[in-house]
Amino acid sequence: MRHLIDFSDLTQEEWHALYHSFTEILKHPGDYRDALRGQTLASLFYEPSTRTRLSFEAAMQRLGGGVFGFSDPQSSSIYKGESLKDTIAMVSGYADAVVIRHPREGSALAASLYSTRPVVNAGDGGHCHPTQTLTDLAAVTLLLGQVDGLHIGICGDLKYGRTVHSLLSALRRFDGITVTLISAPELALPAYARAACEEAGMALREERNLRSAIGGLDVLYMTRVQRERFADPAEYERLKDGYILTPGVMEGAKREMLVMHPLPRFGEIDVAVDDDPRAAYFEQARLGMVIRMALLLETCRLPSLAPKIPQQKSGFACANPRCVTQEERYLPPLADGDMCRYCESRAG
Ligand code: NCD
Repeated sequence: MRHLIDFSDLTQEEWHALYHSFTEILKHPGDYRDALRGQTLASLFYEPSTRTRLSFEAAMQRLGGGVFGFSDPQSSSIYKGESLKDTIAMVSGYADAVVIRHPREGSALAASLYSTRPVVNAGDGGHCHPTQTLTDLAAVTLLLGQVDGLHIGICGDLKYGRTVHSLLSALRRFDGITVTLISAPELALPAYARAACEEAGMALREERNLRSAIGGLDVLYMTRVQRERFADPAEYERLKDGYILTPGVMEGAKREMLVMHPLPRFGEIDVAVDDDPRAAYFEQARLGMVIRMALLLETCRLPSLAPKIPQQKSGFACANPRCVTQEERYLPPLADGDMCRYCESRAG
C-alpha cells in the first residue's frame, strides 16, 4: 500500500499486519510514545468531522509526532479558489503523510495523483471511508474474535453512506460472510457497490423491516441518513426517521449481537440502547484511534515519491454531478471501461 483511497488498496496480508500492530499498541501503548517523533501529519478537512479528525490527530500525538492542517477550509487559500492539486502539491512537501476529507466523490484519488507523500482518504463525499472500515473490522475482530462467517446487517442510508461502501468492499475479502441490507428503496446501495459484492459471490440479502431482520444477525451496523448529500431537503425529511433502533427492537436480537455505528447518530439509535451491553459504538470509536496509530506507523515511514500522472483516456467525461472531476477541471479523465475511476460511477 502507498495511498489508502479505499480498502481495496490493502492486501489481506497488510490488513493482518495492521491488526497485529493494533493489538500490540493496545497491549503496550507506552512503547510507541516516540515512534514517530519528528514526523508530521497534514490533516486537511474540507468537511466537518469529529471522530475521524480528532482520532487521527490524537493518534499522531500519541506516537510522538506533530499535526498541522485545517478543519475549516474557509480559513485557508482554498477560500481564494486554490485548486486541490496546488494545495496537495505544496502540503505534501511539508508533511510525512496527508489525511484528507473532502465533499467531492473521488477527491482522495485526485489528491494522491499530486502528492509526494502517502494520502489517506478520510471520506470523499458519499463515496468511501476506508479508515472507518479499519475501525469497524478491528472492533469486530477484537470483540467477536473474527470476521469470517458472520452475518452482518447494514441499516439506514446505503446510498450516500460512504462507511457502508468501504465496509462492503472489505467484507468481500472474508469467508462465509452474509450481508443483509436494510433500507428504504430510495436509499439502496449504489449499482457499482452492489455489482462488486455480487461479482465476489457475497451472500447478499435485502430486508425492508429491521424487526424481522435482527434475529439472524451477529452484527447490526446502523447508519445516519446523510442529510448533507440530499439535493432535495423534503426528500431527507421524508426518509430520515425510517429506521430507529429501540430497546424493544433489541429484544429480538441475539444475546451476543454487536450494535455498531460510525457515529454521529441522529436519532437512529435510541439513547436507551446505550445501556445495553451489546451497544459497541463508543468502544468502536475508541478503537478507531488505535487502528489509526497502526496505520500512521506504516504510512509515515514510506519513502517520498515524485507524483506520476496516469495516462489520460481521451473522450471520457464523468456525468456524476458529485464527482471531483466536475470541479477540478484539470484532472485527467480516468476510466475503466465506462466507470469513472475517481468516483466509480458508471454514468459517464
Ligand atoms: C461518518 C462519516 O463521516 O462518513 N462518520 C465518521 O467518520 N465516523 C458517518 C456519518 O457522518 O454519518
